[in-house]
Amino acid sequence: MTEVRGVVATGKGKPVELTTIHVPDPGPGEAVVRPQACGVCHTDLHYREGGISDDFPFLLGHEVAGVVEAVGDGVQDVAPGDFVVLNWRAVCGVCRACKRGRPQYCFDTHNAAQPMTLTDGTPLEPALGIGAFAEKTLVHSGQCTKVDPQARPAVAGLLGCGVMAGIGAAMNTGNAGPGDTVAVIGCGGVGDGSIAGADLAGARRIIAVDKDPKKLDWARRFGATHTVNAAESDPIEAIRELTGGFGADLVIDAVGVPETYRQAFYARDLAGTVVLVGVPTPEMQLELPLLDVFARGGSLKSAWYGDCLPSRDFPMLVELYQQGRLPLEEFVTEEIGLDQVESAFDKMHRGEVLRSVVTF
Ligand SMILES: NC(=O)c1ccc[n+]([C@@H]2O[C@H](COP(=O)([O-])OP(=O)(O)OC[C@H]3O[C@@H](n4cnc5c(N)ncnc54)[C@H](O)[C@@H]3O)[C@@H](O)[C@H]2O)c1
Ligand SMILES: [Zn+2]
Ligand SMILES: [Zn+2]
Repeated sequence: MTEVRGVVATGKGKPVELTTIHVPDPGPGEAVVRPQACGVCHTDLHYREGGISDDFPFLLGHEVAGVVEAVGDGVQDVAPGDFVVLNWRAVCGVCRACKRGRPQYCFDTHNAAQPMTLTDGTPLEPALGIGAFAEKTLVHSGQCTKVDPQARPAVAGLLGCGVMAGIGAAMNTGNAGPGDTVAVIGCGGVGDGSIAGADLAGARRIIAVDKDPKKLDWARRFGATHTVNAAESDPIEAIRELTGGFGADLVIDAVGVPETYRQAFYARDLAGTVVLVGVPTPEMQLELPLLDVFARGGSLKSAWYGDCLPSRDFPMLVELYQQGRLPLEEFVTEEIGLDQVESAFDKMHRGEVLRSVVTF
């Protein structure tokens, strides 16, 4: 067991605390990882707000790159010293999705079996089974994906959640391809990931939609060809206008509220695709005329983690980044200390950052 500092959310809406936690030595199949960088994702804030579950206390942080420090019995894929990006999809290989050859949907992903705890023994619920706003964290070894150690941790770690979710929402779930028109509503780290993914896929037009003009400026760095300020004009009309009056082939909702979902639904062309990647909260309801759902055709999909396969996608995207084909550096607005997560939430709330990244 090791004693380290970690960022814990103790109750709904309460400011996070930097406190001492206990990290067990790795048991069979587990690994202890020393984070080198961990991005602040909106999902951490959802946890803090009680929007994901009520299982407080949470150990936050889940967008992380670091070094494997120790592994438990039977671990063969990673060894101490390996540079890894942690994932929340350690596929089980035996659930009904895995057995059908669809491990990107694995319904029984692995996490560490032993709990990390507060010093009084209270078990911590690690965000997305990771919990990496901590000097060390315990995960399942399958959550460790080796990538090129030349990559900068603050950049590589982003692939562990939001940016991967965004890229995958466009490339995997939305199946964006050459010649497609793509609109992305909400240009935070996730939405800009989708814009970058649409660009990699060869989309013809990439329309960025946000209420914040600064976010729209930033979206251009990732490949947005057109922008729509949702505070000034109706996104449905604007997207239709930019697509010959028809709507986009693919619209990605990277906000995840009923208003933006409805916009995505009506801003796509007939037989087009909507991908929901933003995470709604439990009280949200959606009402749509069922006849429109039928008559507009196409598909309405949700993207968990961008339907990624970490072992396939993380090393590939790191390589694209290193070749200068994926501007991952542009996501990092600031590097902060472990004691600055609460102020990073404030900055996220005020729209001042794409990603604040805790570096150790
Ligand atoms: N599906 C997944 O696997 C997955 C993974 C990571 C994050 N997420 C979710 O994705 C969402 C976005 O995360 P993020 O880290 O990019 O958040 P963020 O706060 O950085 O970005 C959200 C953006 O949406 C914009 N926005 C808010 N309301 C809007 C509206 N009505 N119209 C247009 N733009 C609006 C904001 O200005 C901001 O730029 C969150 O809900 C997060 O929980 C999902
Ligand atoms: Zn499985
Ligand atoms: Zn996340």
